[in-house]
Amino acid sequence: MGTKTTINRAVSAELFAKSKTYFPGGVNSPVRAFKSVGGTPLFIKKGNGAYIWDEDDNQFIDFCCSWGPLILGHNNPEVFNKVVSTMANGASFGAPTRLENELAELILGRIPFIDKLRFLSSGTEAVMSAIRLARGVTGKSKILKFEGCYHGHVDALLVKAGSGLVTLGSSSSAGVPEAFANETLVLPLNDSTRLRETLVKYREELACVIIEPIPANNGLLLQDKTFLTHLREWCTELGILLIFDEVISGFRVAFGGAAEVYGIIPDIVTYGKILGGGLPVGAYGAKNEIMSFVSPDGPVYQAGTLSGNPVAMSAGIAQLTVCNQPGFYEDQEARTKLMVDAINAHAKSKEYNFEIVQIGSIFWLSFDGKKRIQDADAINPDMTKFNQLHAALLNRGVYLGPSGYEVGFVSSAHTIEILTQATHVFCEALDEIYS
Ligand SMILES: Cc1ncc(COP(=O)(O)O)c(C=O)c1O
Repeated sequence: MGTKTTINRAVSAELFAKSKTYFPGGVNSPVRAFKSVGGTPLFIKKGNGAYIWDEDDNQFIDFCCSWGPLILGHNNPEVFNKVVSTMANGASFGAPTRLENELAELILGRIPFIDKLRFLSSGTEAVMSAIRLARGVTGKSKILKFEGCYHGHVDALLVKAGSGLVTLGSSSSAGVPEAFANETLVLPLNDSTRLRETLVKYREELACVIIEPIPANNGLLLQDKTFLTHLREWCTELGILLIFDEVISGFRVAFGGAAEVYGIIPDIVTYGKILGGGLPVGAYGAKNEIMSFVSPDGPVYQAGTLSGNPVAMSAGIAQLTVCNQPGFYEDQEARTKLMVDAINAHAKSKEYNFEIVQIGSIFWLSFDGKKRIQDADAINPDMTKFNQLHAALLNRGVYLGPSGYEVGFVSSAHTIEILTQATHVFCEALDEIYS
């Protein structure tokens, strides 16, 4: 690790050839196919701590961390032991278990703006259900989202706007009826003037606004706090519910996510990723007056065979118990910053048009040479340099998610020693692609 060699992908290539006959594109989620960076996707055999190994026995420092859930790294002993001991008693009952209470108590004890939660099995499900709830509570049907925010593969949210004025959405996916897309308005991020105009104009029709308060699916588009504050104030003033999609940021930038970091409280919040400790768990939550609309208490139907699954609950309990310890998030941020600052200093000294943007233990590689990129349109769409860096890093034993629009994640298993090693590798890889 650390010295450049072209990695052997023979076994991965063989597995990929087979998987392409089984799954569209050979994968069960599109980004895994390495389409944007090119080459054969690596088939991963195992992970431990900050490291993963592929089927060809190449070892990597992993900054993808399963796209965010693994904030304690791979194969964390607390999570492993709790999952195994629960599994020994059976995998699923379709009936309540005490583990659901335990995970809820952990969350509700630390996040005061939600009274009740509902667990389900993915971030997409959480968002889909939160929107149904907002529509059920308000009796209105339109929703507003922001360009560059991803909220899972919910029909009404696979929508992007044309540039220019606010538009009725047109879908970014085939298979979404126009009528669904027409219920979604789309605005650019961080533009208070357009936001105000739109909220006022559509106040009678808008059930909710949904935002990633720390947009992290299209680069890391850190918003001005004043924009988020306006959003909160105006939604309250105009009777529109505000949903924070904290599937990435929840339990990542702070236990209470972006809401805690910014001190801004949504009406409904969605969680996923970290919540499940690497197993499939999502959740949405709100105050009692909103959650009382959810079935069986209220008229908004939502259900799931494996919702609150005991094994998944156990992973979440073990992981969040560690995250809940004093100093956990400060330590995560400090270690991440150490690496990011050192790489940025190197890039600056060499005058590379490159900077890493960071918040907490999330980072994004920006090849735009300007730090405050706050909306998706401002991102340089030419990913050539990212793709070169991705390959140069893989060849030196560092694994990033295979897309320049995606962020990287640091886990508690990424020690200072490992991050120092990664820093050297990054600097060397940057020198290679800029030479
Ligand atoms: C902010 C956000 N919301 C929702 C989702 C969808 O979550 P899932 O992939 O678990 O369905 C994602 C996934 O990346 C996400 O980043």
